[in-house]
Amino acid sequence: MTELHQEQARQRAPREPAGEERVRLDPGALRGRIAAELAAARDRTALLTGCVDAADLVRQHSPLMSPLVWDLAHVANQEELWLLREVGGREPMHPEIDPLYDAFEHPRAERPALPLLPPGEARGYGHEVRGRVLDLLDTVRFEGARLLADGFAFGMIAQHEQQHDETMLITHQLRKGRPVLSAPGPGPAPADAMRLPPEVLVQGGPFTMGTSAEPWALDNERPAHTVHVPAFFLDTVPVTNGAYAEFIADGGYDDPRFWTPAGWDHRQRAGLSAPLFWRWEGQWVRSAFGVTAPVDPAEPVLHVSWYEADAYARWAGRRLPTEAEWEKAARHDPASGRSRRYPWGDEEPDATRANLGQRHLRPAPAGSYPAGAAPSGARQLIGDVWEWTSSDFLPYPGFAAWPYREYSEVFFGPEYKVLRGGSFAVGQVASRATFRNWDYPVRRQIFAGFRTARSAGLETAGGIPGRPAPEAS
Ligand code: AVJ
Ligand code: FE
Repeated sequence: MTELHQEQARQRAPREPAGEERVRLDPGALRGRIAAELAAARDRTALLTGCVDAADLVRQHSPLMSPLVWDLAHVANQEELWLLREVGGREPMHPEIDPLYDAFEHPRAERPALPLLPPGEARGYGHEVRGRVLDLLDTVRFEGARLLADGFAFGMIAQHEQQHDETMLITHQLRKGRPVLSAPGPGPAPADAMRLPPEVLVQGGPFTMGTSAEPWALDNERPAHTVHVPAFFLDTVPVTNGAYAEFIADGGYDDPRFWTPAGWDHRQRAGLSAPLFWRWEGQWVRSAFGVTAPVDPAEPVLHVSWYEADAYARWAGRRLPTEAEWEKAARHDPASGRSRRYPWGDEEPDATRANLGQRHLRPAPAGSYPAGAAPSGARQLIGDVWEWTSSDFLPYPGFAAWPYREYSEVFFGPEYKVLRGGSFAVGQVASRATFRNWDYPVRRQIFAGFRTARSAGLETAGGIPGRPAPEAS
């Protein structure tokens, strides 16, 4: 079948499920998009590994993290595996190093002791792989195998490297030493930020959760399915440092009533009393990338565990949103009944809509990015801080592991909590309204904050036009 015939067949029999719009790029545009996302990832990788010396690259800055030189060769190795070997059918370049860079063979704490490629060789390996990948990209046809459709394998690899760029930035945040990274600040909040309603109402009813239409969605985001979500209120913006400081000042860390039993146990053992990287010096100060400065009360809180987020919410008389609530607030358009790719619509993120890609090295003040608001009015759902949800990381109905079990499936279960939205540290190709991140509820070094929710219940039904107010009894 020629490309033209294939295209006609697709148009006659659209595969998209109801509730989502499918985005398609022609092969030329797809090649350009792939090259741009791979280049954006590599520019950031080069910066994050070029700003420290060789000793710093091979050193382990925290037992929670790999040495930076491991990430450097691991992204190259994954790129070689999926693009050159699987897609291109090439022979392995250095099969003997594969086990060193398999994340499942060696936990992070063990990695510094491995015979890793030294910095120069790791860089050279990445450079060589990328050159061959770009040659392959020139001639590859996006058809035939499922890995090739819509350029999925290339999109997956671009997402992988951009996710590791975030991982490497976390390593920089944990690193001790003189500052080596800087970026312009995100600028002040817009004038209306102080006048925003504290919460937005998301109407009850079904919506399309997950996706069967997003070309580069990972397996855990699939398939699209209908979920009924009762009406609820969600914070318009993420919880700020200022609000979080009130929780601390009010004794939030000392009152077990606000904590789950597991959370209280952890709070006691770990001696938690404030977010990670905060210190009391007559006022709260925070260190970020080697610079200590007063905590900005207008900025979304960062570096809190799920347990702390959950306790804050209970202190505030609220709760964390479920993952379904978060996604409905982020993409359901009540006017059309459809689910969007992003809160603002189907267009890709840009600098006016979301704080992504390490353009700034901190979240923007709460209320920023009005152009990125969801139909509900909620802001900053994409970018700034990952948001903890109350949900465990579980497969959607109809989940099928693809292209490998170790991406998602082996992590499903109650020990991981889902985070949504993306942080300032992750690239735009790895952030969308369906994207699911996960981590242990004790984790704090990740760029995570949260917002809170409450069920709307019957008392608000009277406020919904066209519905009779409920009787009091
Ligand atoms: C989705 C961020 C949890 O870092 O462990 C990187 C992403 N998977 N390499 C992780 C990932 C394989 C993953 N998270
Ligand atoms: Fe990885």
